[in-house]
Amino acid sequence: MIVCVCAGVSERKLRAVIADGAATMREIERRCGAGAGCGSCHLAVRQCLRESREAAAAVDMEFPAAAAAQLAPA
Ligand code: FES
Repeated sequence: MIVCVCAGVSERKLRAVIADGAATMREIERRCGAGAGCGSCHLAVRQCLRESREAAAAVDMEFPAAAAAQLAPA
């Protein structure tokens, strides 16, 4: 699905850019152009950024428990 029509950026591309380290709207604009045109995609881009942050935070919270389980004596 195309998120930014002006730059032709798909949701997949946007998520890849975020996963590669783009953490702000400015960085996303610089890396792929999404949001740099008319601005009508800003809400969708921010939503994608927020979802990616929440997913990353959930993984961070799960990792210590998983690591502790592996390190625990059998
Ligand atoms: S649709 Fe993204 S800047 Fe226009």
